[in-house]
Amino acid sequence: MKGLILAGGSGTRLRPLTHTGPKPLRPRANTPNILYCLEDIRDAGVTVIGIILGNNMPKKVRELLGDGSDFGVKITYIVQGEPRGIAHAVGCAREFMGDEPFVVYLGDNILTGGIKFMVDEFLVSDDEAMVALCQVSNPQQFGIAELDDDGHIISLVEKPKEPRSDLAMIGIYLLRSSVFPVIDRLKPSWRNELEITDAIDTLRQEVGNVTAKQVRGWWKDTGKPSDILAANRLVLDDMKPDVLGTIEDGARIEGRVSIGKGTIVRDGAVICGPAIVGRDCDIGPTYIGPYTSIGNGCRLAGGELGSSIIMDGCHIECDQNIVDSLIGGNTTILSENDRKPRGIRLVVGENCSVGL
Ligand code: DAU
Repeated sequence: MKGLILAGGSGTRLRPLTHTGPKPLRPRANTPNILYCLEDIRDAGVTVIGIILGNNMPKKVRELLGDGSDFGVKITYIVQGEPRGIAHAVGCAREFMGDEPFVVYLGDNILTGGIKFMVDEFLVSDDEAMVALCQVSNPQQFGIAELDDDGHIISLVEKPKEPRSDLAMIGIYLLRSSVFPVIDRLKPSWRNELEITDAIDTLRQEVGNVTAKQVRGWWKDTGKPSDILAANRLVLDDMKPDVLGTIEDGARIEGRVSIGKGTIVRDGAVICGPAIVGRDCDIGPTYIGPYTSIGNGCRLAGGELGSSIIMDGCHIECDQNIVDSLIGGNTTILSENDRKPRGIRLVVGENCSVGL
């Protein structure tokens, strides 16, 4: 069996964060999301993996994953270019897959419980496709499966206006080469994409043997900033504490906290877990509250941070209380209390959201 991770797409809903790289590279607890996907596939025993690259800084994906040897897998990059839909991306991998069965994993997904149980079952079955499902409260936003009382699929519909169930397809698809001719015949959907949901539903109607499995543990699609913060909280909940940096006398560390090498936590700082601080940070008298991830090389002094993600290289020095925030790399947030006229000075890019 082979694996396929999708790291293309344009990530419009996550702008401006996706102006500096594709969605799957956004971190949860300081680890790029795509690494969780890669590990899940590898831990299911699949080590030959294709990565779909789009137009949004694909070089960054190559730089992170290389040939895969650091992660115990062998990676082949497959260029999709323009995001013409998940089924189109899968179609781009036809040559790479050959006649092998394969598992597709959307690079912005995150789940616990792994996929090994699905892979194992698929490999000994004569299923043409298997889809992973999870109950959601907002079914209009997903591909939705309707099942009969025996768990057989009755329909698969992409983002239905009137959903017939609350079982979302979570972006993990086990497939065989039988899907490729179906993809060839697909017509673009209302959002002008070739939908994998349509491909699998056509396969179900024409060939049969399409099954569904509910995931174990929790799952998050991290398409929106609020989802990323929620996924960060879930990952931090499972994190093992590990303090490698220096904690000065007078600094307080409470609960499950990880602190990277080369980081100094100074007198007056308070860090309440679950929280993670990356490598080479300088943490002054700041209160870092639960469910916060601070990236590498950050400098913080003053104020309070809670339930937020601060990416690499940020400098925050102010007396504000920053909560539920997602702050992109190399951002500077400073108090300017002495400057006249008084007021908030902002340098904000396109498509940002600022709560004052
Ligand atoms: O998250 C689960 C949902 O993912 C499913 O319930 C839907 O059935 C499925 O269509 C998909 O919906 P989204 O609208 O959330 O997909 P999105 O456009 O966000 O793309 C998901 C990932 O696939 C993302 O990491 C980018 C990548 N992608 C997407 C497209 C359209 C590609 O690599 N190439 C593409 O052409």
